[in-house]
Amino acid sequence: MFLDKIIGIFSNDIAIDLGTANTIVMVKGKGVVINEPSVVAVQKDGRGGSKILAVGQDAKDMVGKTPGSIIAIRPMKDGVIADFEMTERMIRYFIEKVHNRSAFIRPRVVIGVPYGVTQVERKAIKESAMSAGAREVFLVEEPMAAAIGAGLPVKEPKGSLVVDIGGGTTEIGVVSLGGLVISKSIRLAGDKMDMAIIDYVKRKYNLLIGERVAEDIKVSIGNAILPEERLSMFVNGRDQVSGFLSTIEFTGEDAREALKDVLKDMLEALKDVLEVTPPDLAGDIVENGIALTGGGALLKGIDKYFSDAIRLPVYIADEPLLAVAKGTGRVLEEIDLLQQIAYD
Ligand SMILES: Nc1ncnc2c1ncn2[C@@H]1O[C@H](COP(=O)(O)OP(=O)(O)OP(=O)(O)O)[C@@H](O)[C@H]1O
Ligand SMILES: [Mg+2]
Repeated sequence: MFLDKIIGIFSNDIAIDLGTANTIVMVKGKGVVINEPSVVAVQKDGRGGSKILAVGQDAKDMVGKTPGSIIAIRPMKDGVIADFEMTERMIRYFIEKVHNRSAFIRPRVVIGVPYGVTQVERKAIKESAMSAGAREVFLVEEPMAAAIGAGLPVKEPKGSLVVDIGGGTTEIGVVSLGGLVISKSIRLAGDKMDMAIIDYVKRKYNLLIGERVAEDIKVSIGNAILPEERLSMFVNGRDQVSGFLSTIEFTGEDAREALKDVLKDMLEALKDVLEVTPPDLAGDIVENGIALTGGGALLKGIDKYFSDAIRLPVYIADEPLLAVAKGTGRVLEEIDLLQQIAYD
């Protein structure tokens, strides 16, 4: 019993995919233990202080529906920390939840961060985790984590290409021999798709809709290439002219049109990476194809959209939403991998 406790204390290392949209926590030997939206709901007390009401799914359910004194905060924006204090409180909440609210356990933590975050941003993420109770923090670049999580042969002398489309960032990486050979991160992903839908609905139908509705539209009928089946849904919003609530029918064609420009920017970024990929590695990619991970990989037709444009095989990884988390989890389990790819 006592021994169990000791072992427990030393085997509580965790891997965190601190995403703009979702935070996933893996515990060594246990797999995914937390998978919740990166949202914190806060009650302001009017004296400059604030109290956390909910974190994760409960908090997301409050987005856009909160009365004046309660605000729902997404502390991560564009793949990086936008609200330092809230990020720290969110990480602390999740770490404590994993360890049954025991504040005594100080785990080692591996965190996936976007490629190309600045020194200042890296420091902010590390400090957040440290003050949230971590004993030691290792950072892993997200494209690398995504490649590992997608099951690509990252350690081999072979080129693998992964595109991770999250909420805040799209990360593209060519990996070989355990390192990122070429990599690019753009701050344009699922959130920008939602914005594009909001703008389109406003422009074409004079209707104002919120972020939640826009995301619903994207997930249900969003597409990069129109599928055979007819897609459409009814959308409620506020008419910009009359101010009244009104309903429109939004179609798959509308959604494709709305998302066109965002997808084109992603495609350009992918082309940029392919252009500078060394020929030998490019040969491997032609053979093995390009893996898509992240929630954006689930957009209908996105694999075909890319593969038609660049004439290479493109496929969606298994459980794309979990790829980065699974990759950071693997790093936690293989200490040599950690030493090879973690960085300051
Ligand atoms: N079926 C779907 N079709 C299109 N987009 C989807 C679908 N399911 C989820 N998404 C989108 O995927 C995004 C979340 O993906 P993911 O969890 O990989 O992001 P994240 O890791 O939190 O963000 P980031 O990596 O940028 O920090 C959200 O924008 C969500 O709306
Ligand atoms: Mg992500």
